[in-house]
Amino acid sequence: MASVSLQKGLLAAGVCAAMFAATASAQDIQAQRLYAQSLAATCANCHGTNGVSAPGATMPVINQLTSSAMYEQLQAYKTGARTGTIMHQLAKGYTDEQLKIIADVLGKKN
Ligand code: HEC
Repeated sequence: MASVSLQKGLLAAGVCAAMFAATASAQDIQAQRLYAQSLAATCANCHGTNGVSAPGATMPVINQLTSSAMYEQLQAYKTGARTGTIMHQLAKGYTDEQLKIIADVLGKKN
C-alpha cells in the first residue's frame, strides 16, 4: 500500500518535472528568438527592416543573399578580406556565433 502511494507520488513528481521542463524550454525558445531578432535589428537602421531598404535608399539590399552567403560576406568583412566604408568595422563587433544568428534571421532561406 505504501509503495503504491510512493509510486503515485514519484509519478506525479515526474509529470510535474516534465511539465516544468516543457515550460522552461518554450521560454528558452522565446528568449532565443528575441535575442536573434534584437541582433538582426541592429542592421535595420541602414539596411531596413528584415534587410529591405526603403525605395531609393543607397544602402545595399541584403535579404536577397542566402543565409550562408550573407554569413560568408560578414566573415569577409570581419577578417578584412572584404573592405568597405563601414561593414568591415561593424562586423568586427560581433562574435562569429552572433554573425551566424544574424545571417540566419536576415538571409534567404533557400
Ligand atoms: C551604418 C550603416 C550600416 C549598418 C548599421 C549595417 N550595414 Fe551592412 N552595409 C552598409 C554599407 C554602406 C554597405 C556597403 C559596403 C560598405 O561600404 O561598407 C553594407 C554592405 C553589407 C553587406 C554586403 C551586401 C552585398 O551585396 O554583398 C552585407 C551582407 C551587410 N552589409 C550586412 C549587414 C548586417 C548583417 C548588418 C547588421 C549586423 C549590417 N550590414 C549593418 C551599411 C550598414
